[in-house]
Amino acid sequence: MSKKWGVKMEIKMNSISVVIKGKRIFSNITDTMNSGDMVALTGSSGCGKTTLLNCLGLIQPIESGSILINGKDTSKWNDKDKTKFWHKYATFIYQDYGIIEDETVAYNITLDKSKAKSKAVKNILDKVGLNGRDSELAIVLSGGEKQRIGIARAILKNASIIYADEPTASLDSENRQIVISLLKECASNGAIVILATHDDRLVSECNKVISLNKNRN
Ligand SMILES: Nc1ncnc2c1ncn2[C@@H]1O[C@H](COP(=O)(O)OP(=O)(O)O)[C@@H](O)[C@H]1O
Ligand SMILES: [Mg+2]
Repeated sequence: MSKKWGVKMEIKMNSISVVIKGKRIFSNITDTMNSGDMVALTGSSGCGKTTLLNCLGLIQPIESGSILINGKDTSKWNDKDKTKFWHKYATFIYQDYGIIEDETVAYNITLDKSKAKSKAVKNILDKVGLNGRDSELAIVLSGGEKQRIGIARAILKNASIIYADEPTASLDSENRQIVISLLKECASNGAIVILATHDDRLVSECNKVISLNKNRN
């Protein structure tokens, strides 16, 4: 990760609330995240961690309030603006997210056949502990290894914002520690890393914690 990370970002939530199918999920969350922050969205199961993560990723609409990215009100963004934002700045690390099982590990990281054999990919595979696995099919990977493909994509992209939903939930202790260290390194290189998680060990590594329990109605 010697290359300088993506551009400086600020995400601001102003009193956001979400209602899904008539049910209030959370209300009036206000907070700001900046490049270099590692942020945990915490709370008991069903309290809205994934929903808030999706709001911040502009996937889930909000009922009221606003989300500003670098001062721009995202409620005014059309689909084209959002696609540009995702393409340019964001990476999502969800369990098995976007893994194409009958493609190689390298292709799953680059999503571009012409780049799959590049030196950058080899370096990143070393970094995430998948060295020499580039031409294996993704179907043979364990859950922890698939999770690391997501992180490898974020590193290759120099993603400015990394969204991860329960990135350590299905991992053994060793893989959990690897994933936590990689995410921390992404944040210290200047990414905003936003994690929906109930893993206390991961939460303790975050410099910002947004607890949803106290925001429930
Ligand atoms: N598409 C949906 N339709 C109906 N209810 C939903 C939908 N998405 C989320 N919910 C509800 O919103 C609440 C919060 O869900 P979620 O954000 O997944 O919680 P968490 O990630 O904290 O476990 C839950 O009660 C869930 O059932
Ligand atoms: Mg969830």
